[in-house]
Amino acid sequence: MKDILQELESRRETARAGGGEKRVAAQHAKGKLTARERIELLLDEGSFEEFDMFVAHRCIDFGMEQDRPAGDGVVTGWGTVNGRMVYVFAQDFTVFGGSVSETHGAKICKIMDMAIQNGAPVIGINDSGGARIQEGVGSLAAYGEVFQRNVMASGVVPQISLIMGPCAGGAVYSPAMTDFIFMVKDSSYMFVTGPDVVKTVTNEQVSAEELGGATTHTRKSSVADAAYENDVEALAETRRLIDFLPLNNREKAPVRPFFDDPARVEASLDTLVPDNPNQPYDMKELITKIADEGDFFEIQRDFAGNIITGFIRIEGQSVGVVANQPMVLAGCLDIDSSRKAARFVRFCDAFEIPILTLVDVPGFLPGVSQEYGGVIKHGAKLLFAYAEATVPKVTVLTRKTYGGAYVVMSSKHLRGDFNYAWPTAEVAVMGAKGAVEILYRSELGDPDKIAARVKDYEDRFANPFVAAEKGFIDEVIMPHSTRRRVARAFAALRSKKLVNPWKKHDNIPL
Ligand code: HXC
Repeated sequence: MKDILQELESRRETARAGGGEKRVAAQHAKGKLTARERIELLLDEGSFEEFDMFVAHRCIDFGMEQDRPAGDGVVTGWGTVNGRMVYVFAQDFTVFGGSVSETHGAKICKIMDMAIQNGAPVIGINDSGGARIQEGVGSLAAYGEVFQRNVMASGVVPQISLIMGPCAGGAVYSPAMTDFIFMVKDSSYMFVTGPDVVKTVTNEQVSAEELGGATTHTRKSSVADAAYENDVEALAETRRLIDFLPLNNREKAPVRPFFDDPARVEASLDTLVPDNPNQPYDMKELITKIADEGDFFEIQRDFAGNIITGFIRIEGQSVGVVANQPMVLAGCLDIDSSRKAARFVRFCDAFEIPILTLVDVPGFLPGVSQEYGGVIKHGAKLLFAYAEATVPKVTVLTRKTYGGAYVVMSSKHLRGDFNYAWPTAEVAVMGAKGAVEILYRSELGDPDKIAARVKDYEDRFANPFVAAEKGFIDEVIMPHSTRRRVARAFAALRSKKLVNPWKKHDNIPL
């Protein structure tokens, strides 16, 4: 018996050693942690339960039968994050460069199947040279199996991808189908074809970092949702995100203890909106003043800054926030902001996270590039996402909301539950100047007349009361009481039930 125990221990030790000291040292020298170190930081201490530690590949080509390391380049299993269950896989770059073989893929599929069945998130830590070159199509098949499960899991359990090393070729499509992608600056990259192929095909010279590093994907392509300085920060932030999310689509997000009065009055909000309508202000100030303890987890902070998306808690409950940001492009909607917000709204709706929308929007951004780029279809994504969402929707208009953008931003007409406006809000087809220039074109030569017309239009529409008279605004509220009003609104909606007509699936304008 003692011998068997010893053998188990020694086998475990070998598996835990991964690709050996030299390769582990090389991993550390690149500023990267090993797969096991990453899992240790991600999960609660001592909570990791490993699966398939002794799985080895079955390849017999290229002398591979001589080298069958236990675990086959990926560590899989489950554990807890602040006591709540998650499944995890971490590719081990020290074993065959973390490359994906048939058995490596099967290990990932096993935990994904369990996650879907048992209703817990999947966190994938990607650090891999891609398809195991020695295995050929067997490796591609393994990817295909993972992709299929990514799709089956989508909307059922949250899926989070951490990119902590190479992720190239078709391999990028697994993270691409997950809900959130976090990258690490300077040590991770994602691209479909690398710099060498790019150079050959298009003659463009670009480094791996420029082509697919964390900065590129958080600022330019929007493929990734956040970029972190190092592995430790990325793992800590993943834990923070998990705390906002439900374990699956049948459960509500956890309610955390809170130490912040839901009726807290914020007198400073009464002067947040400047007197000059052309002067911007920071919408993030409103978000953090509404949130419990000012805690805001922002998603895609570095992309399409004209719209803000992220999670807060109100009375301990998770709430997804979508807010126009007057500091960037005057907060207008455009292709990028519409896509960003639409995806976020759909995530919240899929996982029953209520949505708070803060509105100050002058309309859609005009321009040839916007029209050629298909702003019609992209804007429609956000409209579609809000219109199909059945979660509690609370909206606060702070300043202007014009034209189609008024309807899009969670208006009453798209089944907004509570639509509040500050006294500074204006709801109109367009701004007064633009309206007068169209309505009174013949008077444009007379500045006095035009000024009078503008004033007249402003007096009529530059307020929330016309919309309130029609019931499109439920109530005009004092800015300082916004947190209390929003908290009470969400509390009133805790048992909201709204079901869309049966369909196989919708046909959102992709
Ligand atoms: C088998 C691999 C491997 C792979 C790396 N290794 N990639 N083994 N299959 N795909 C092994 C190396 O042989 C080496 O083994 C160890 O991993 C570390 O690799 P290095 O090259 O020494 O590391 P580094 O210099 O950091 O370079 C990392 C790398 C490079 C940029 C990822 O290894 C690389 O270019 N690999 C090939 C990438 C690739 O072309 N993959 C296929 C892509 S197509 P030893 O024993 O020396 O430690 C694809 C399709 C997916 O993935 C399709 C899905 C549908």
